[in-house]
Amino acid sequence: VLALVLSLVCFPPGCRGLSQLAELPDTHQLLRQTCRDFADRELNPIAAKLDKEHVYPAKQIQELGAMGVMAIEVPEELGGISRGCASTGVVVSVNNSLYIGPVLKFGSEEQKREWITPFTTGEKVGCFALSEPGNGSDAGAASTTARQDGDEWVLNGTKAWITNSWDASATVVFATTDKSLKHKGISAFLVPMPHPGLSLGKKEDKLGIKASSTANIILEDCRVPLGNMLGPRGAGFKIAMQTLDSGRIGIAAQALGIAQASLDCAADYAHKRTAFGSPIGKLQAIQFKLADMAVAVESARLLTWKASLLRDAKKPFTKEAAMAKLAASEAATYCSHQAIQVLGGMGYVADMPAERHYRDARITEIYEGTSEIQRLVIAGQLLKEYQS
Ligand SMILES: *[C@@H]1O[C@H](CO)[C@@H](O)[C@H](O)[C@H]1NC(C)=O
Ligand SMILES: *[C@@H]1O[C@H](CO)[C@@H](O)[C@H](O)[C@H]1NC(C)=O
Ligand SMILES: *[C@@H]1O[C@H](CO)[C@@H](O)[C@H](O)[C@H]1NC(C)=O
Repeated sequence: VLALVLSLVCFPPGCRGLSQLAELPDTHQLLRQTCRDFADRELNPIAAKLDKEHVYPAKQIQELGAMGVMAIEVPEELGGISRGCASTGVVVSVNNSLYIGPVLKFGSEEQKREWITPFTTGEKVGCFALSEPGNGSDAGAASTTARQDGDEWVLNGTKAWITNSWDASATVVFATTDKSLKHKGISAFLVPMPHPGLSLGKKEDKLGIKASSTANIILEDCRVPLGNMLGPRGAGFKIAMQTLDSGRIGIAAQALGIAQASLDCAADYAHKRTAFGSPIGKLQAIQFKLADMAVAVESARLLTWKASLLRDAKKPFTKEAAMAKLAASEAATYCSHQAIQVLGGMGYVADMPAERHYRDARITEIYEGTSEIQRLVIAGQLLKEYQS
């Protein structure tokens, strides 16, 4: 009864309610278990090597795609993958949320056939080119231009920090057709990769998620047919913002996987390692850490599920996605930090995964909107709600 009352009080009408947050439906549980098993069997054993050697997990990405579970709308399951390997998690998230997502939502039937169908076998992944060297989070300030020339668009400019760029077969590019219109002048374009006029910068040497590729995409008189514009002219900014709302649930799920893996690693070690005559898990200092980590993980999980449920129910979820991403990325940072503390010296060396989790966690507070941007989004939505 209490749960029922709480669900009526706490959840917008139409949302499936509290019981859905405590327990996922059977189909989701099965999917989650499939992802977890794959992570344990295929990713966990190789994640350290991929990280160390900066190797793109082509075979595993293809298998994930071919398993058929990676089709769009599965971001909440990404936590299961990222628990094994956060690099693989982001490759899948970018492909699904940032590349397929906008084509599915804004593309014509013809565009969907051309730009989605070939990606469903798992052999190809896509990427999303929004940020620029001079204005990462300020999407409206994009200086990449698109000029019409006969029956083609000519793209010129440089896009920065593009995840998947070295491994992608297509990209959504944002460019302005009229700078004086500011964000209303931005449009989205579909560009195959490789393509004449499109080149890649050097692979960035990153702190974490090293098995995924990140580089600049350089467009120099890059020509695409007029039909490659995605959505109406001038809708690019709206497309980017809506795409990032969904993408943030994917990154929340990735961060959740990193946080969970950190807790798993710390709790397991607390059982095995003895000090002062007994397992360190008996020490109050260690128990407090494990308890705080578990609370951070569980809070992040519920917020991530809530954002996913709202999205599935086709309700507004901008605020909840930003909350989930903020909470989960902070949980990943906190838990990976504490896991190293529990492991002590063993946490600081690459023999154990804790130091990789610590490095992988950091990016979740930066990409697809920094933690500061998430706070702006949350506060903006909040103030709107109080105003109305
Ligand atoms: C990429 O996205 C397509 C379309 O949703 C999906 O079928 C495919 O499995 C995805 N690949 C990966 C590796 O996630
Ligand atoms: C955005 O960044 C580009 C460099 O990538 C720079 O040329 C441009 O002036 C910047 N725009 C604004 C409005 O800051
Ligand atoms: C694109 O940039 C090149 C220089 O890199 C310049 O020659 C060309 O005129 C530009 N094209 C357009 C359409 O702005």
